[in-house]
Amino acid sequence: MSDTLLRVENLHTYFHTRRGVVKAVDGVDFRVGRGEVLGLLGESGCGKSVTALTIMGLVPSPPGEVAGGRVLFQGEDLLSLSPEKMKTLRGGDISMIFQDPLSALNPVFTVGRQISEALICHGKTDKKGARERSVRLLNEVGIPEPDRRFDSYPHELSGGMCQRVMIAMAIACDPQLLIADEPTTALDVTIQKQILNLVHDLREQRNTAVLLITHDMGVIAENADRAAVMYTGKVVEEAPVEELFTRPSHPYTRGLLESIPDMERQMPRLPSIPGFVPNLLDLPPGCPFAPRCKYAEDACRAEMPERIHLSDDHSVLCRKPLMGTTA
Ligand SMILES: Nc1ncnc2c1ncn2[C@@H]1O[C@H](COP(=O)(O)OP(=O)(O)OP(=O)(O)O)[C@@H](O)[C@H]1O
Ligand SMILES: [Mg+2]
Repeated sequence: MSDTLLRVENLHTYFHTRRGVVKAVDGVDFRVGRGEVLGLLGESGCGKSVTALTIMGLVPSPPGEVAGGRVLFQGEDLLSLSPEKMKTLRGGDISMIFQDPLSALNPVFTVGRQISEALICHGKTDKKGARERSVRLLNEVGIPEPDRRFDSYPHELSGGMCQRVMIAMAIACDPQLLIADEPTTALDVTIQKQILNLVHDLREQRNTAVLLITHDMGVIAENADRAAVMYTGKVVEEAPVEELFTRPSHPYTRGLLESIPDMERQMPRLPSIPGFVPNLLDLPPGCPFAPRCKYAEDACRAEMPERIHLSDDHSVLCRKPLMGTTA
C-alpha cells in the first residue's frame, strides 16, 4: 500500500436550511496514497462535491457547517488550520479543478493574469518570469497559440479551453494533491479523453495524487487505482478498482455496475436499481440503502451497519456483504 497523503476520517458536513438539516456528508472515510488516483463515485446529490469543498476549506458557512471528523493531509488536520494557512495550502500543495470552470475563473481578468497571480502568490516566480512560465503551462495543457491566449478573457474561450486553463492554474504550483470534480462532464468525448490523459500525465511526471470525482464508472475503470463509492453522504464501499469491478460487495455498488450497458451481451432491458435515493432531510433509521436493497432484512432497516474490512484495502458498509464475482 502506498504512503498515505490524505486521510479523511468520519467527516460530517451539514447544511442548515429552512426545511431542516441536510446531512450532505455524513461520516465519510477514505484515504489517498502519494501519487495515487482515488475515484470518488456515486449518484447526483450523494455528497461528492461537498466532500471536496470540505477538504479545500471552502464550504459556505452559513448555511454549511463542518460538524465533525478530520481531514489529515500529510498528518496535519486541515480542519484545525487557520484561514491564512489554508489559503496558502490551496492552489499550492492542494488544488482543485471545479465542476463548473466558468464560475471558478474570474471574468474580469485575462487567463494569463490569473495563472501568473497563482504562481507569484505562491512564490514560484517573480513578476518578470511569470508570463513565460504561464505560457509554458498553457502550452503544457494543450492550448494552441498559448502566447496569444495568455491575453484572452475567459468568455473568449470555449468550455474545453476554460477547463484546460483551470487545469493549468491547478498544476501551476506542483500540487501534491489534485482534486478533480467531474472534470469532463461538460465536455465532448474527444476533449474528455484529452483532459483525462492530461491528468494521467501529471501523475506520471510529477507523482501528483488525484481525487477523481465522477458518476461515470467507465472513467473510474480507466483512470483510477482505487475507488470509494458514496451513497447519501457515506462511503459504502472502498476497494482497488479491479476488485471493485469484479467482486463488488455492497448491493449498491453491484447495482451501479449492473446498470452499465454491455455492448457484447444482448439484454432485453438494462437493469436499474429500483426505488429512489432517499431525501437527505428524512433518512431512514437503518442502512440508507435498505429501502432499495433486495437483500435487506429487518436488522438492516433498524440500525446502521458497521464497516466491515474484507481485506487490508477493501471495506464495505453493509451487514451482509455480497461474496463472489459478478456474472
Ligand atoms: N449550499 C448548500 N445549501 C444547502 N444544501 C446544499 C448546499 N450545497 C450542497 N447541498 C446539498 O448537499 C447534498 C450533496 O451535494 P453535492 O453537491 O455534494 O452532490 P454531488 O454528489 O456532488 O452531486 P453531483 O453529481 O450532482 O455533482 C445535496 O443534497 C445538495 O442539495
Ligand atoms: Mg458535484
